[in-house]
Formats: sequence, structure tokens, C-alpha cells
Amino acid sequence: MERINPKMLATTTPPIIAVVNQKGGVGKTTTAINLGAALAELGHRTLLVDLDPQANSTSGLGLDPTRARLNIYHLLTGEADVQQVALPTGASGLELVPSHIDLAGAEIELASLNAREMLLRKALSTPQPGVECVIIDCPPSLGLLTLNALTAATSMLIPTQCEYFALEGLRHLMYTHQLVRSRLNPKLVIAGIVMTQFDARTTLSWDVLESVRRSYPHEVLQTLIPRNVRISEAPSHGKSVIEYDPTCRGAIAYRALAKELLER
Ligand SMILES: Nc1ncnc2c1ncn2[C@@H]1O[C@H](COP(=O)(O)OP(=O)(O)OP(=O)(O)O)[C@@H](O)[C@H]1O
Ligand SMILES: [Mg+2]
Repeated sequence: MERINPKMLATTTPPIIAVVNQKGGVGKTTTAINLGAALAELGHRTLLVDLDPQANSTSGLGLDPTRARLNIYHLLTGEADVQQVALPTGASGLELVPSHIDLAGAEIELASLNAREMLLRKALSTPQPGVECVIIDCPPSLGLLTLNALTAATSMLIPTQCEYFALEGLRHLMYTHQLVRSRLNPKLVIAGIVMTQFDARTTLSWDVLESVRRSYPHEVLQTLIPRNVRISEAPSHGKSVIEYDPTCRGAIAYRALAKELLER
């Protein structure tokens, strides 16, 4: 399986990682924010694109989604470019393209546009000066917005919660990956499956890990993201867990995830 090539970080076209899973609440936003903050801490300037109308990445990084003058909608419609829309965050080296609740309605409007799956790809096609990695936080569906993310991305990172129905969701997502590769984006690779909310004390977590590893031995990443209360507290302080509690288990795990993705 192809992986993110660290050498790509030095080229002008940055890797674009779509954090995707059609299942809700599996840790997409948590992973997008904290992987972004960990990459930034490692010195790789990162742009986080909040493509979810819930705008959880935006509010989780302490920005009010109703107050940004320009947001992802303006980027998708071509009314503004990344440089105009991106905002600094509390984490040095991490910038954010904010989302807005109105994006839910706008999705219908976008559906009538020409090349409607290509809007984000076009918007991200001009490399941003100094940006070494782009992360896209996707909504919990496989609709037009997620299709835009998968068409723009170079790889998919799939957070998967250690719970009973994990494998069924993954099969569906792998099918979507093949479909997108054959029709829209032949270069899209799987960066990895990252198991989230892992609780080493429960048999269920170990059982799910084993069955997902058996089905996707090359895709499952070594790094396990533990269930950690500091991770869930951080967004209410408008911070990544890396800033909120740099030494907690959650922060350590997301740093390890960033390093694993850079090394493989
Ligand atoms: N490792 C973790 N430890 C503890 N809580 C976590 C962890 N990961 C995520 N959570 C919590 O689980 C909830 C869902 O996480 P998150 O919002 O990241 O999922 P999501 O996949 O982005 O959801 P949605 O599909 O709605 O966008 C949040 O309340 C988050 O704080
Ligand atoms: Mg989310």
C-alpha cells in the first residue's frame, strides 16, 4: 500500500489528507484538530479545512463559526481563495478554513454547479506558500461535500471507533475509495485506519482491533488513540489537546500518529 511520502512535505504541492468516515462520532474532528496541531508542533505548517456544516473543527479551535466573514462556502464557490479565507488558530503553525452552519443548505446549491465534485480540488490547487500539509475534516456522510474532499485529497485517513459495527462501516468506505479512484481521483491512497477511543481495559476494544487488523492488515496504523478525558475536554477550551494538556496520554498518542504518518 502506498503511504504519505515524507519527501512530499518538501515539495510545492502539499499532501492533502481527508479525515473521513461516514459514521458519526468516530473521532474525525478530534483527529483532524489534534493531528493538525501535532504536525504543526513538529514544524510542519498545516492548513485544516473544516468541510462539515456542524463546524466542530472551527468551534473546537476556539473560533466562532458565525463570525468569520469568509468561510468554506466562499472557497467552494470560488468567491475567495485559501489565503483570503484561512485564519490563524491558537496553535502556532496551524491555520483553519472555517465552516458555517449554512453550508448544509449550500450543499444543495452547490449540487447544481458544473463539475460539482471538483470545487474543493480547484480551490486547493494553488499551493499555499509555506503550507506543508492540508487536512480536511469531513462530515459524517458520503454526500457531495465528502466527495469533494475525496476528489481533492491525496490520501484518506479513516478514524474508526472500537465498537461492534466498525467493520461494516469500513467495508462501505473501502468500496467508496475504489469508486472515487476509478471515476474521480485515481491517485487517492489510504493513509491508514486509526483506531480511536481505544480502551485497553475492555475486551470489546481488543476484539474490534483484532478483527479490523485481520481484515485490513496493511491499513491499520500502529498508533492507537486511547479514550482519554483530556481529549474530550480540550475543544470546550478552544484548544487542541496538544495545547490543552501537552503531556496527557491523548496528546502523546496524537504526536505518535503524526510521526507514524510522516515516517511511513
Ligand atoms: N480519544 C477520545 N477520548 C475521549 N473522547 C473522545 C475521543 N475521541 C473523540 N472523543 C469524543 O467523542 C465525541 C465525538 O468525536 P468527534 O466529534 O471527533 O467525532 P466525529 O467523527 O467528528 O463526529 P461527527 O461525525 O459528528 O463529525 C466528541 O465528544 C469527542 O470529544
Ligand atoms: Mg466531526
